[in-house]
Amino acid sequence: MCGIVGVLGQHEAAPLLVEALKRLEYRGYDSAGIATVNDGALESRRAIGKLVNLSDLLVHNPLAGKSGIGHTRWATHGTPSVKNAHPHQAGDVAVVHNGIIENFVELRAELNSYKIKHKTDTDTETVALMAKHYLSQGFSPTEVVKKTLLKLKGAFALAFLFQGENDLMIVARQGSPLAIGHGNGEMYVGSDAIALAHLTNKITYLDEGDFAKITRNKLEITNKSGNLVTRKIRNINININKVDKDGYKHFMAKEIAEQPSILKTTLQNYLYNENTEIELPKNDLDLANIECLTMVACGTAFYAALTAKYWFEKIARVRVEVDVASEFRYREPPVSKGTIALFVSQSGETADTLAALRYMSSQQAKIISVVNVPESSIARESDLVLPLHAGVEIGVASTKAFTAQLTVLALLAIKTAKAKAVITEDQYRQYLKDLNQIPELITHALSAEANIRRIATELASSQDVIFLGRGAMYPLAMEGALKLKEISYIHAEGYPSGELKHGPIALIDKEVPVVVIAPMDPLFDKSVSNMQEVMARSGKILLLSCRKGLAKAAKGTWATVEMPETPEFIAPIIYAVPAQLLAYHTALAKGTDADQPRNLAKSVTVE
Ligand code: AGP
Repeated sequence: MCGIVGVLGQHEAAPLLVEALKRLEYRGYDSAGIATVNDGALESRRAIGKLVNLSDLLVHNPLAGKSGIGHTRWATHGTPSVKNAHPHQAGDVAVVHNGIIENFVELRAELNSYKIKHKTDTDTETVALMAKHYLSQGFSPTEVVKKTLLKLKGAFALAFLFQGENDLMIVARQGSPLAIGHGNGEMYVGSDAIALAHLTNKITYLDEGDFAKITRNKLEITNKSGNLVTRKIRNINININKVDKDGYKHFMAKEIAEQPSILKTTLQNYLYNENTEIELPKNDLDLANIECLTMVACGTAFYAALTAKYWFEKIARVRVEVDVASEFRYREPPVSKGTIALFVSQSGETADTLAALRYMSSQQAKIISVVNVPESSIARESDLVLPLHAGVEIGVASTKAFTAQLTVLALLAIKTAKAKAVITEDQYRQYLKDLNQIPELITHALSAEANIRRIATELASSQDVIFLGRGAMYPLAMEGALKLKEISYIHAEGYPSGELKHGPIALIDKEVPVVVIAPMDPLFDKSVSNMQEVMARSGKILLLSCRKGLAKAAKGTWATVEMPETPEFIAPIIYAVPAQLLAYHTALAKGTDADQPRNLAKSVTVE
């Protein structure tokens, strides 16, 4: 969604703010801006488009001052424009905001009644104008913000600066994350710790409803009950050197290519005794008696959870309900005693997933989260956190996090199966042997890139693409479709192969490529039958399978991608690679921005 930053520094704030915003651009990049207080004077600079446009503006029209706030925007209300860019300044107060003010229309009406007019289309301007209104009544900055916050409904992480206040920043969070960085005679604010990694590793995360008055040498946090509290200062070590492209054209390319090493690290963090035993972080879960599991996530993380359903049900004999968080949170399903709920989220900040987690917490369910950010809001509200150890993922389209999610979920499923004694010792060993092949098999899958690049150049002219998969390949078919549509903007849909003849086959003609994800598993022959149905209607088949599979079924296909022989259990993890590469190279062929696709943001912290 959006990213906010703030600096109370000993040096010029503008370059620090821009550097911090660079690390938050993955959260949104419609427009950007900063405001500073220089000898008491509050002033802003804002630019439409990517952050580089703001940097260029600051070269020609610099902004002095050692106190500042900044923002990179993913538009929720109002088109991307300079007018709608943050910071929103109303007289002697400026504010940056991540979230959605849900009652901004009512507030706008109230402000109109005070003869205070809006100039923008945004919800955030309402916050600035309400603060200005209270400031004009003579309240102190702290009182102004407290009174303003009482008016707001919705999700927000806010940072305020005031005219005349060289050493004051006031921040608050409700529903959107906010981190405070501790420097040496300096203080910082950011939507996440990545934004501040170049400034400090000493981070305090605000809790829901916290409000903080910050000066260079003092942090005063008030909780939602109005009590002064202290929050833990954590050492968050983010290797910011990892946050670069290492010579790749895009972060996405790098993150696809580094999956063998990333997944080796993930496995190493859960396997011990020469990779023959699975160890989870300390927990009091009784895996032996799990009867059912509720899994909730969004987007790619949802497809990871849907894949895990096949493993938990078939191997661990645990019934699994999976739902997208935006639906689950409002369904408010009945929750039986002892229910375990598992939430998958790369960022750990997805608003819908967090809300669903809070619903299940309120129903006394045990909470497991599979996240890539162990300090995230979702992690902090879980009973058991299973980290991905995938390193920072910058590409908006999730790749290494997806395969890491699958790997962690596969480990949990096997651990659960063993605890329930529904698999033999030999089966347990075999599953672990399969898991230990992941890095090598992904390396093999990556070797198909040149062929995939060639296919992608043809695919780039398609209007519609269908992905088909059976069994645990069905969620991957949907993930492959999501990857393609979100970075190449080509319409794509994923279907269970068996569903094709129940309607979607009407879409098939020679213009519609059909990507069939079919490892040589027990369902392979069924997938081949579906392929025949497509080819009988001039459909263009792209078949992803191993050598044996291609030997059996490649005849008549438009194109094929040869995959390594893969154990059925880990096939969804290995076959994710060609789906990722196909999307990436199609985006390259179309000239779209693979790392920052239009309309998207990496972390959806608003609902
Ligand atoms: C992934 O390619 C998408 N950009 C998006 O669907 C993402 O998976 C979803 O927003 C969930 O994000 P999370 O894993 O951080 O919760």
